[in-house]
Amino acid sequence: MSRPQKLYVKSYGCQMNVYDSRRMADTLAPAGFIETTTPDDADLVILNTCNIREKAADKVYSELGRIRAIKDIAAREGRRVVVAIAGCVAQAEGEEILRRAPTVDIVVGSQSYHRLPELLARAAHERVIDTEFPIEDKFDHLAAPTPAATRARGLSTFVTVQEGCDKFCAFCVVPYTRGAEVSRPAAKIVTEIERLADAGVCEVTLVGQNVNAYHGDGPDGRPWTLGRLLYRVAEVPGIVRLRYTTSHPCDMDGSLIAAHRDLPALMPHLHLPVQSGSDRILAAMNRRHTRADYLHVVDDLRAARPDMAFSSDFIVGFPGETEEDFLASFNLVDEIGYASAYSFKYSPRPGTPAADLEQLPDEVTSERLSRLLYAIDPQQAAYNASCIGLTLEVLIEKPGKLPGQLVGRSPYLQPVHVMAPPELIGEVHPVTITDLGTYSLHGTLTGAAARVPQLATTGV
Ligand code: SAH
Ligand code: SF4
Ligand code: F3S
Repeated sequence: MSRPQKLYVKSYGCQMNVYDSRRMADTLAPAGFIETTTPDDADLVILNTCNIREKAADKVYSELGRIRAIKDIAAREGRRVVVAIAGCVAQAEGEEILRRAPTVDIVVGSQSYHRLPELLARAAHERVIDTEFPIEDKFDHLAAPTPAATRARGLSTFVTVQEGCDKFCAFCVVPYTRGAEVSRPAAKIVTEIERLADAGVCEVTLVGQNVNAYHGDGPDGRPWTLGRLLYRVAEVPGIVRLRYTTSHPCDMDGSLIAAHRDLPALMPHLHLPVQSGSDRILAAMNRRHTRADYLHVVDDLRAARPDMAFSSDFIVGFPGETEEDFLASFNLVDEIGYASAYSFKYSPRPGTPAADLEQLPDEVTSERLSRLLYAIDPQQAAYNASCIGLTLEVLIEKPGKLPGQLVGRSPYLQPVHVMAPPELIGEVHPVTITDLGTYSLHGTLTGAAARVPQLATTGV
């Protein structure tokens, strides 16, 4: 290869896609690809797509318009740009993408991206598609990141431990795009995390579409739960913080709740989507739990870890949702007291059971969405305001926007801005929260670190 090839990967959707994008870059590195942050000078563009809602899927085609223009300019300069569509839209639409978008050279599904080097070689003379669910485990065929690549990605990283979903919620494409639930063996996950820790990573978020359904083989020959895995990962030297996402309320078992009680490294914040507060809608969604079950899980977690903070996802306007059903979601926000929550308008997805049901008018859904936000936003602001005056342990991650400022995260996942010397990056320090930004907290270092002489502790 005469010059290093440049790779531009853009990730849409969930944390699993972020992880996959990194693994694609790792897999292409031995073939001479280095990452670039813009598609303008790239030789290979990969869009790692999300299909969860119609808007997410549509983004692919609008982005492809821009990529086509870049590809045309490069062609006039005698340079070929290869365009690959990966991820969940690739998996769901397959051939359709090649038909709709002549600019696309490769379509690669979420279970076959370890074959990218081979697909790329074939793309030199044909358009290529690979959306199989292969028998081999892609994780066994992916190149590990170099320590330098790991460091460049920061102190906090994602590790996929489980993929796919067997729950089949009536609205959701994931069981179709990601396939059946598969858990990685515990020993391989531990080895991957040890390697990340050696390169300086100190916070790991274990990810999976249904992460708490994890049941990978343990080194003792038995299946391990996510709780059991967390106890083991907490022993990895250098890993000071652990998180996991996304969880299903039905899979919140005793070992996981005990892990929240026992493991100081396991952070007291949990994204636990409920989708609706109405039992009738939860049943129609095939969520397999009731409102009471959900409240029970939250109570158990709070009993294990009293400062546990929760976030959630809500869908409004699911087919058949009445005003009364909606109010049940609205009330649940108050009943739980979320640190934050996301709400989405129901989006019918081709191939899912709910897409065939009679849909609500858009005005009704939009109006309910704005009312739900009206419940969520002040709650989130109040949660953040309740942190003023508290001293929180902050993992300091990187420089902030202002000179002398650093940014980290509280245990409850809030971004925290603090004036501090750059040597503190990568360490956990107590920070006293003084005031609020729009979506963040501002504070001053407290204790020993605050006495470092060159510190500016005002004007945050
Ligand atoms: N595995 C996770 C989340 C999957 S998708 C879980 O089980 O909760 C992330 C969020 O997107 C979901 O929690 C849901 O709120 C939302 N979502 C999924 N499908 C949707 C659809 N068809 N329309 C609107 N929102 C949807
Ligand atoms: Fe989708 Fe439901 Fe599976 Fe979550 S649990 S990924 S919402 S089918
Ligand atoms: Fe989207 Fe696929 Fe994740 S549909 S949310 S990228 S699993």
